[in-house]
Amino acid sequence: MKILLFGKDGQVGWELQRALAPLGEVVAVDHDSAELHGDFSRPEALAATVRAVQPEVIVNAAAHTAVDKAESEPDFARALNATAPGVIAREAAALGATLVHYSTDYVFDGSGHAARDEGAATAPLSVYGRTKLEGEQQVQASGCRHLILRTSWVYAARGGNFAKTMLRLAGERDQLKVIDDQIGAPTGADLLADCTAHALRTMAAAPALGGLYHLVAGGETSWHGYARFVIEWARAHGQAIQVPADQILPIPTSAYPTPATRPLNSRLATGRFQHDFGLQLPDWQQGVQRMLREVLAR
Ligand SMILES: NC(=O)c1ccc[n+]([C@@H]2O[C@H](COP(=O)([O-])OP(=O)(O)OC[C@H]3O[C@@H](n4cnc5c(N)ncnc54)[C@H](OP(=O)(O)O)[C@@H]3O)[C@@H](O)[C@H]2O)c1
Repeated sequence: MKILLFGKDGQVGWELQRALAPLGEVVAVDHDSAELHGDFSRPEALAATVRAVQPEVIVNAAAHTAVDKAESEPDFARALNATAPGVIAREAAALGATLVHYSTDYVFDGSGHAARDEGAATAPLSVYGRTKLEGEQQVQASGCRHLILRTSWVYAARGGNFAKTMLRLAGERDQLKVIDDQIGAPTGADLLADCTAHALRTMAAAPALGGLYHLVAGGETSWHGYARFVIEWARAHGQAIQVPADQILPIPTSAYPTPATRPLNSRLATGRFQHDFGLQLPDWQQGVQRMLREVLAR
């Protein structure tokens, strides 16, 4: 299987380089790759890359993921999140290639308390959410065989992440305030990459499989619950934590205004993915503990 991977050095892209390797030849590019064009801000030029590589599978892990910044640069966000995936999808259709594309719970307005399935009505609240939804629609309209994986609250051991920020602050401060009315499931980039590789192997033997899926770790928490879990785990494992447990305080989203509005309910129902691909998604705590072990061992 020849695979073209876009966005190779992002959280998910980095893990995909590892997880896709056993499937065949992986040609991995980023926006500043020297030989093959991979800059999503020039979407039309991406077609030449697809034609040069002639992949059987394209995996797109590149995106404009700076949710607040996207509010002030909507055209740039649209180029990366919608126009570029559209160009790639139409090239995939012409080539007969399968496209894997990632999307987000931010396509929803986050009302209510129930987990949303793939058929739930979309209503994005932000430029990021709107442009990601347009990207999904471009992929679907292209006619290529595809796998769109909507996920949420992605973290990786490599680079910065919410857990590392909380650990740093917990080592310096006597009090922390963390949002407790946004609910979701922290999901490891490694889990997403491994599930992607498994899904591609399954799809190779089952031509009817594909389409839109929700893919997040099991269980749910708030950012406050996530922070408390990380800090107390680190304290129990001998890290120097200054903030007392009772001084990790919950605050509402309204107390922490940001340029982009975020959904309060990020719960995604993953039954369809688990059923079609025969997988059982682990609870979020399992992956977060693994990431913490890696981070704290450094
Ligand atoms: N992060 C989350 O919490 C989250 C939640 C839900 C869904 N998702 C989706 O999951 C997918 C992977 O996200 P991630 O967390 O791995 O994001 P990420 O770490 O921000 O990685 C994004 C990748 O896109 C690349 N990129 C940025 N500008 C580009 C450009 N002009 N041309 C080409 N590539 C460019 C980045 O390269 P540089 O690093 O070199 O700039 C990076 O490799 C995305 O589709 C995202 O929308 C993410």
